[in-house]
Amino acid sequence: MPPTVGDSPSRGLSRRALFGLAGAAGLVLGAGGGSAVTAAVTGSRTAGGAGGGVHPFYGEHQSGIATEVQEHLHFASFDMMARTSRDDLIELLQDWSYAAARMTQGLEVSAKGAVGGSPQAPPDDTGEALGLPASALTITFGFGPTLFTKDGEDRFGIAARQPTALKRLPAFLRDDLIPEASDGDLFIQACADDPQVAVHAIRNLSRIAFGRASIRWSQLGFGRTSKTTVDQSTPRNLFGFKDGTANILAEDTSALAEHVWVKGGDQPWLVGGSYLVARKISMTIETWDRVRLAEQDRVVGRAKGSGAPLSAPDGAETAEPDFATTGEDGKPLIDEVSHVRLAHPDLNGGIRMLRRGYNYVDGNDALGKLSAGLFFLAFQHLPEDFITVQRSLAKDAMGEYLVHIGSGLWAVPPGAAEGSYVGAGLFA
Ligand code: HEM
Repeated sequence: MPPTVGDSPSRGLSRRALFGLAGAAGLVLGAGGGSAVTAAVTGSRTAGGAGGGVHPFYGEHQSGIATEVQEHLHFASFDMMARTSRDDLIELLQDWSYAAARMTQGLEVSAKGAVGGSPQAPPDDTGEALGLPASALTITFGFGPTLFTKDGEDRFGIAARQPTALKRLPAFLRDDLIPEASDGDLFIQACADDPQVAVHAIRNLSRIAFGRASIRWSQLGFGRTSKTTVDQSTPRNLFGFKDGTANILAEDTSALAEHVWVKGGDQPWLVGGSYLVARKISMTIETWDRVRLAEQDRVVGRAKGSGAPLSAPDGAETAEPDFATTGEDGKPLIDEVSHVRLAHPDLNGGIRMLRRGYNYVDGNDALGKLSAGLFFLAFQHLPEDFITVQRSLAKDAMGEYLVHIGSGLWAVPPGAAEGSYVGAGLFA
């Protein structure tokens, strides 16, 4: 007989217990799992009452990429634990997918959640999201280069499945990377309109990973720094500038197909997926705050108030930047080393990426300065696209106020079919 929730050991949901629970509750659709589980799988239930958007977990692409960007982030990088096997990895991805499918619908990680289980065992769900709506939660998973080969070792029998493009990003000018904010075998990105819902997701998924994977580093983010749908307003980053004006939007399916979703490459399992670049970028905001407004505008290439390119006389935020027009001094209205010019597709062979980053403040340093910046997240169909733009930004006037302190690249598999799990194609 499979173990039940009540059999869970005192350390919480064991691998065996979770797997048994998933089997008993109906990872197989409709197999007596009850309405809650079925709803989680089909994404048909508006969970937790009014006020929370609900995104389906299953589908062609993983949610959390082209999904309308939410207000809060909890991002976590995981490493597989020593002596774990291929079966452990597969089972972990199944367990994570099962729990993620439920949580994104506003449900607890199992049918016997924070209350109602055995009083003699820790509850399956930690409980802090009880009563909260789904809050547009999306949970996105991906695989780092070290999952495929680490120190020359093929730990999980997937080395031959490593995409050629999936390797550690090269060093860039002004990088000052710290291992505590870089790399990792796996990542989970939880985005929600309620920070507690995002934190609850990472907390419970890391608990489920017990004995198989552990958190290497994690990052909280507040305040989206991009827009990803036509209807969203453009938010501001911690430099006070509108950010995301020229982003790829969800409605632009041809741009998504061209720049975001993997189409070919050497690994069929990744088709329909993407590559995620994360960069933790520290911003010296105290220095920035002492810079004249005109100079701030020059550095960005856009006007702080309106967000319009400095070449747009009518001040329209959405006007296309014009890099040729010069002012009375004979210089281009948009400076040659402005961020917008150097990042623009015209200067980078047409490259575009879907930016989905968040502001962060990690307290302050010993001098009383805020440890703050941008947790840059970008999805693109080729890592090389990010590398090209980041190299172009070597001359970026904004670079004087930035230090890249964290970095990671992961392959993001396509979405899972109902009843399957994220990454199944990797093991087929
Ligand atoms: C803390 C660091 C950064 C800040 C504060 C920042 C800020 C901005 C701002 C204010 C804009 C103009 C509005 C917009 O179109 O979104 C912009 C545009 C852009 N940024 Fe950044 N950015 C940062 C880092 C990066 C990095 C690391 C990359 C990629 C390597 C990047 C790529 C882009 C791109 C592609 C655009 C759109 C350019 C266009 O098509 O006009 N940014 N950024």
